[in-house]
Amino acid sequence: MTHIHGHPTRVAIIGAGNVGATFAYALLLSGLSSEIVLIDANQAKAEGEAMDLMHAVPLGPPTRVLAGGYEDCAGAAVTVVTAGSAQRPGETRLDLAARNTEIFRQIIPNIVRNNPDGILVIATNPVDVLTFASQKFSGLPFERVIGSGTILDTARFRYLLSQHFGVDPRSVHAFIIGEHGDSEVPVWSLANLAGMRLPVYCAANGMHCTPETLTDIFQQTRDAAYHIIERKGATFYAIASGLTRLVEAIVRDQSTVMSVSSRIQNYYGISDVCFSLPTVIDGGGVERVIQLELDTEELDGLKKSAEVLKNTIHHLKL
Ligand code: 2OP
Repeated sequence: MTHIHGHPTRVAIIGAGNVGATFAYALLLSGLSSEIVLIDANQAKAEGEAMDLMHAVPLGPPTRVLAGGYEDCAGAAVTVVTAGSAQRPGETRLDLAARNTEIFRQIIPNIVRNNPDGILVIATNPVDVLTFASQKFSGLPFERVIGSGTILDTARFRYLLSQHFGVDPRSVHAFIIGEHGDSEVPVWSLANLAGMRLPVYCAANGMHCTPETLTDIFQQTRDAAYHIIERKGATFYAIASGLTRLVEAIVRDQSTVMSVSSRIQNYYGISDVCFSLPTVIDGGGVERVIQLELDTEELDGLKKSAEVLKNTIHHLKL
């Protein structure tokens, strides 16, 4: 456990763009950390965001906010990396992966040199590939490098299902696993409401839910980022909330089950890749990846997702 009683809980954020700054704000309002450090290649941007955030402090939980350099990662319980570029028009995911991998080659050793004991959380896309790269570049134990992965997709999925069923999203239990991206997999066989599998729930409660309706809900989940980016150019509120929840699970040592990306070792025979599975997160990071009972279609989907990611990792010579 990285939080020592009497010491401040520091969270360092690398990258003060849309995701980094919105996460800093969500974290500030949560009161989970007593110190928030913003670090960006553009120092003025980090300073401007830090100043704006500081002025919210008298109106919320006491927090020290500062714009700093990599040396200020020292002592952070969690360092969250949001830095990197977004996809440019006409650019493939692989181009983006190559560009951000090169950026991470500089950033990650700088973090670890100053903070060898903390937990690294990766949010930059393609998040699974960059989580894998960060483990290589950091040399940290696997359990201390976590990607935000499908936290977002799982939240979107639960939200859309909750709207369909007319219940609180927290009452819908369902996971999206695999890549945070086009090859992700919905775990329909384990999705449930009040402990009842969805088709059973529908039949027992006189609800109409055809396979087409459910497929449509998954497609909306998988393609949500495209639809949002088309309209507002980026996504940042939901990921900021997801990162805050992940940091809460870590600094409060909660043993929360979340769908995050981590290094997979012999999961239904799949190894040497990072992607998301329901994972127990506590003060040490990944406590355990949960062994799911998947049906054949889901397992095939997961294996395909692993192949997609391994091809990218292979192309990048990681
Ligand atoms: C999202 O899914 C773009 O990965 C980002 O919102």
